[in-house]
Amino acid sequence: MKFLLKGILILLFFLLITTICKINELKNVQYNQPEFLSDKKILTVYYSNIGNTKNVAQNINYIVGGDIKEIELVEKYPNNIFTMSKLIRKQMKEGYLPRIKDIDISNYDIIIVGSPIWNFSMSLPVKAFLKNNNFENKTIIPFFTYSGVAKKNRIVEETKKLTNSKNIKKPLFMFENGICLIKQQIIKWINNI
Ligand SMILES: Cc1cc2nc3c(=O)[nH]c(=O)nc-3n(C[C@H](O)[C@H](O)[C@H](O)COP(=O)(O)O)c2cc1C
Repeated sequence: MKFLLKGILILLFFLLITTICKINELKNVQYNQPEFLSDKKILTVYYSNIGNTKNVAQNINYIVGGDIKEIELVEKYPNNIFTMSKLIRKQMKEGYLPRIKDIDISNYDIIIVGSPIWNFSMSLPVKAFLKNNNFENKTIIPFFTYSGVAKKNRIVEETKKLTNSKNIKKPLFMFENGICLIKQQIIKWINNI
């Protein structure tokens, strides 16, 4: 019992040190606009059900500039989370994509697209957005918010397939709404794209 307690304390100590190191590393991160974003028209587009993706999208928009638009559904999902989850599972199984309101992306060079992860995959409204629009000569930068479980490689492949684009940058997978130092996490990602 004493041995176990000692083990747990050591583990917690290392966890604390790692977290402090990570926070310190992030604190020093600075934003220098990367070459591929300079003089480009940037649009951040997102779908958000409970606000996490919206929060990250707003932070990205604050850092990189440009415009921001929300993907809106023609028929909203039910408010009840269980009914909604059941409907989403059914729609995913049937390959159904919900109807969304049009967003004009024709004037932009860079499209930053944000989605929550649903059932390990991209959310259906964002899939619909990617499928409905023409991404020729545009750069796509995807980002996702999630609780930690996603089929990341499959999501990237799916983005390529839906958009027919070869110009897709490395996505960001952000835990929920970023928890802390959101801007720094975003800057670190953009610096490494
Ligand atoms: C129907 C549904 C399915 C979800 N499936 C997953 C999942 O497979 N993996 C995961 O990490 N998070 C999953 N989540 C959690 C969301 O991805 C996470 O809370 C996200 O940040 C929500 O974004 P939003 O606030 O912009 O809607 C799911 C949430 C919902 C509502």
